[in-house]
Amino acid sequence: MNLWAQYCKFCAVLLIFLGINQSNAKICDLFEGSWVPDSSSPLYNSNSCPFIEREFNCQNNGRSDTLYLHYKWQPHACNLPRFDGQDFLQRFKGKSIMFVGDSLSRNQWQSLTCLLYTTLPSTKYNVSRIGDVSTFTFTDFDVKLMLNRNVFLVDVVREAKGRILKLDSIEGGKLWKGIDIFIFNTWHWWNRRGATQPWDYIQVGQQLYKDMDRVVAFEKALNTWAKWVDTNIDPAKTKVFFQGISPSHYNGSTWDEPSAKSCVGQKEPLAGSTYPGGLPYALTVLKKVLGTIKKPVTLLDITNLSLLRKDGHPSIYGLEGRTGMDCSHWCLAGLPDTWNQILYSLIL
Ligand SMILES: *[C@@H]1O[C@H](CO)[C@@H](O)[C@H](O)[C@H]1NC(C)=O
Ligand SMILES: *[C@@H]1O[C@H](CO)[C@@H](O)[C@H](O)[C@H]1NC(C)=O
Ligand SMILES: *[C@@H]1O[C@H](CO)[C@@H](O)[C@H](O)[C@H]1NC(C)=O
Repeated sequence: MNLWAQYCKFCAVLLIFLGINQSNAKICDLFEGSWVPDSSSPLYNSNSCPFIEREFNCQNNGRSDTLYLHYKWQPHACNLPRFDGQDFLQRFKGKSIMFVGDSLSRNQWQSLTCLLYTTLPSTKYNVSRIGDVSTFTFTDFDVKLMLNRNVFLVDVVREAKGRILKLDSIEGGKLWKGIDIFIFNTWHWWNRRGATQPWDYIQVGQQLYKDMDRVVAFEKALNTWAKWVDTNIDPAKTKVFFQGISPSHYNGSTWDEPSAKSCVGQKEPLAGSTYPGGLPYALTVLKKVLGTIKKPVTLLDITNLSLLRKDGHPSIYGLEGRTGMDCSHWCLAGLPDTWNQILYSLIL
């Protein structure tokens, strides 16, 4: 109990009445917890979601172990409310939700469309794509789930010299109009080099660089995005989330299993709440930038709970079923369903 509340019984009663008992609010942190076996998980069967992309459909691509599907996220001090798809669709009647970012955004967008569709399989939907924006509409409810592929949030522009990654230009934001809920994300593409690096120069102000520290570049881009939020978001109309940093599992040393050279063959999550390898530095940078934004932005702080899921990646059962090693994305059904469950309870 707060000290001042001790001196003011009425205030204490009022606090409890208003449901803003601070000690309670602090204890129920949805992001602190551990994974526990759960026979009612997963929330849907991947076979019952007809539009799930092959890349994420691990079971269909030959993954035969299923233990990883039967865990739920258990916060330390409270329970995660069960996902209620019908309530979700009714609540967001006429509204639009947009994911903006790289393929981890696509992973979460697909998860949400599957979660909603499988709770109401008779509901009508259509999918359309214009440029870099895909829209999944639940037509009976006029709920739009949109995905804008935009891997850096700031712009990459083709000019005479080559492809320029412009850290202080965010013209891509022109597509972010009239949206009720945003879930932004960027990180995984900042470390790309060689053939998969989609730019030739980085521009800051008028200065061109052949390269620079990628975390510094990431922070500059996030600051540009933060300014966009402060300039363009009306908090009365639009809620803004940031997906957080989704971790990869290519190095077993980071989960105290040095013999593991990737996530392949991992069948269970780590027990407990602590990841031996610690948190990615990108998360520190992200939190620092989010702390400078004046408009309300909620961090969907999924890094810790996802670090524990070394078993949740497609490994060799992704990449459209071809060989390859994917320890970055997540199988569906799977971990992103939990991200969406948390998103849902934060929106409520
Ligand atoms: C999808 O449904 C919405 C809402 O009914 C409608 O406005 C839109 O034109 C439809 N799009 C396609 C591609 O059919
Ligand atoms: C794997 O992680 C360990 C511990 O963090 C580190 O010392 C090692 O260099 C990493 N190996 C690779 C190949 O990145
Ligand atoms: C997140 O994980 C790090 C590294 O395992 C740990 O130090 C930290 O206490 C965890 N935070 C929460 C909120 O669980």
